Amino acid sequence: MSPHRIFRIFAFPKMNELLDYINKKQHDESRQGEALHIELNESDLKNNKHFYIESYGCQMNFSDSEIVASILSKQGFSLTTNIFDADLVLLNTCSIREKAEQTVRQRLRSINEIKDQKPGMLVGVLGCMAERLKSKFLEEEKLVDIVVGPDAYRSLPELLEDAEGGQKGVNVLLSREETYADISPVRLDKNGITAFISIMRGCDNMCSFCVVPFTRGRERSRNPESIVAEARDLFAKGYREVTLLGQNVDSYKWKGEENHTNKEAEVLMNFAELLEAVAKVNPLLRVRFSTSHPKDITNDVLHTIAKYDNICNYIHLPVQSGSSACLERMNRTYDRDWYMDRVNAIRRIIPDCGISSDIIAGFCGETDEEHQDTLSMMDFAQYDYSYMFFYSERPGTLAARKYKDDVPEEVKRQRLSEIVAKQYDLSLQNNLKDIGKTFTVLIEKASKKSEEELSGRNSQNKVCIFPKENFKPGQYVNVLVESANKATLKGKVVGLVHDYN
Ligand code: 5AD
Ligand code: SF4
Repeated sequence: MSPHRIFRIFAFPKMNELLDYINKKQHDESRQGEALHIELNESDLKNNKHFYIESYGCQMNFSDSEIVASILSKQGFSLTTNIFDADLVLLNTCSIREKAEQTVRQRLRSINEIKDQKPGMLVGVLGCMAERLKSKFLEEEKLVDIVVGPDAYRSLPELLEDAEGGQKGVNVLLSREETYADISPVRLDKNGITAFISIMRGCDNMCSFCVVPFTRGRERSRNPESIVAEARDLFAKGYREVTLLGQNVDSYKWKGEENHTNKEAEVLMNFAELLEAVAKVNPLLRVRFSTSHPKDITNDVLHTIAKYDNICNYIHLPVQSGSSACLERMNRTYDRDWYMDRVNAIRRIIPDCGISSDIIAGFCGETDEEHQDTLSMMDFAQYDYSYMFFYSERPGTLAARKYKDDVPEEVKRQRLSEIVAKQYDLSLQNNLKDIGKTFTVLIEKASKKSEEELSGRNSQNKVCIFPKENFKPGQYVNVLVESANKATLKGKVVGLVHDYN
């Protein structure tokens, strides 16, 4: 298959409300429903089986779609971006908030119309919604032929065979071991410069609001050798930045192939050590990671970040709430003081570190005082960026069983709008402070607004825009910041640091 990739982005109806828009921001809005396209060569075209895949939700789901693409291509399937050409249509779905599920159901309705014209076409639902709803999906959405949970993608070929024979195929078994370590993902990313590497799956935290432990199962870490090998391979192919992905990367623990589930077994590699191993692949390969849990991020990790220039100075450290009482109900297992201590440690050990957060407004029982605590925490942490949501009750979660979703919708929206306004102000003030500074930027692509400008990010994960001149993606340049708004820094190149190509 040719390495060239082209992407089509589905346009969804414009959100009227700012808050709805913000609520979807966590999952890179521009990528929701994105379809993977790889240019096909002649032998691919001769193959008569084509699949089409769209991804929703978090980066983990996008990364899983790359694994699914790899499994199907080994089965002789070729990828198409034209849904009308597809024999198999797959949606990799998200359950984190009700809204995410509604989007998928809406999409399934439009696919139904296509299926009416193409009766042989098979439709499969993958990911978190598949896991949450299991075979109920087949009763609710009659057009769905297969339902596959996040740990069962290896069984796709058999399920497809069943479905082709007229049987509905369901596999939603969660695994204690599956990490897909041996599967080389088909890269979905557009630029050939930045890529994601999944280092662990599942989550053992029981945040009371969260559906993830139920949809993605128990936490398990991937063999570090396969992670480092993937990073090496990406570097050799011209990639210059990898992001290590997991629901809670700080609790990465490798205990050896036989000891995956043995609680007592010795930890052979922790996250700080893994980070170091990946950083050593090449000083010219930038390393990022996401997501960190405040209860687990250690000073060791912070010192490792400080020690290696190529580990980016940026930490996504979701606070969720600034109130200790609310954090207790959320079962986050840390309180306000603990979180502040972690922020202080970051500022002490990595003085110029970018910090971002996830914040939920209107969780069960949230008082106005608790909401004020969240606002004051934002002032304290001086977040560069936050993903902000109002609470959406998810069936089966601890919170749904234990607490009443009792904050009225208007109050949730009001509180969220205050959080958003505060974040906009913090982002703007933080960015304005960067004017006059020079940052090393890895060039990723042409800027969205103009072909004459290039776009990349600095170590702190801030987007920098500057005139193109003769520079190109993959190069590292020093950019002097001349102006800023809440979302981007603008400037000019004052030197080529390294031509990494
Ligand atoms: N309602 C609103 N936001 C949620 N998140 C997770 N579950 C919910 C929910 N039920 C948010 C958290 C998490 C991010 C990925 O999504 O802030 O960190
Ligand atoms: Fe990702 Fe969670 Fe959504 Fe699943 S439910 S796709 S893990 S954000």
